[in-house]
Amino acid sequence: MDAEHMGADLDEILFTEEDIRQRLGELAEQVWQDYADKDVLLVGVLRGAIMVMADFMRALPGSVEMDWMAVSSYGSGTKSSGVVRILKDLDTDISGRHVLIVEDIIDSGLTLSWIRTNLLSRRPASVEICTLLRKPEAAKVEIDVRYVGFEIPNAFVVGYGLDFDEKYRNLRVIGTLAPHVYS
Ligand code: PRP
Repeated sequence: MDAEHMGADLDEILFTEEDIRQRLGELAEQVWQDYADKDVLLVGVLRGAIMVMADFMRALPGSVEMDWMAVSSYGSGTKSSGVVRILKDLDTDISGRHVLIVEDIIDSGLTLSWIRTNLLSRRPASVEICTLLRKPEAAKVEIDVRYVGFEIPNAFVVGYGLDFDEKYRNLRVIGTLAPHVYS
């Protein structure tokens, strides 16, 4: 799906396919250097991270393993509570492993903060986070994120895995959603 297919539902393109490809390439280079002597396990968080994972791991100049988790808030409207439950757990035993969580976006930081704490309880060698997007203004909790693609303003963004009501994940670019769609 291209930007023009969204018509008036897309306000502004923030990052083109080329912007994303280039930045993920830079992050991949940095990660590969940092983990030069380590065997890294990439952990993606469904569903938003699928595009980032697919492109990021292909940008790495060597073989890596990946695994996935799916999490959900307890009840409805409680996302901001940061209380999540695991819908799909890792298949991999991460004890002693170097884990790199791959995410599409960090908003309040609550989801990732919970996931990191959960993963740390399994005694991995390390847990770091790589996210394509981060909204510094939306942060509700301090979270140490080692790799950040782009910092963005506190706007509703869609595309490249990011959805509104499960739509627009297949938009090639990342852009801001027009307010008339969600208000
Ligand atoms: C998004 C994103 C993160 C989380 C970030 O997932 O992929 O996991 O929200 O928000 P936070 O920093 O405020 O916790 P979402 O719950 O929308 O599910 P999805 O990945 O299936 O789109």
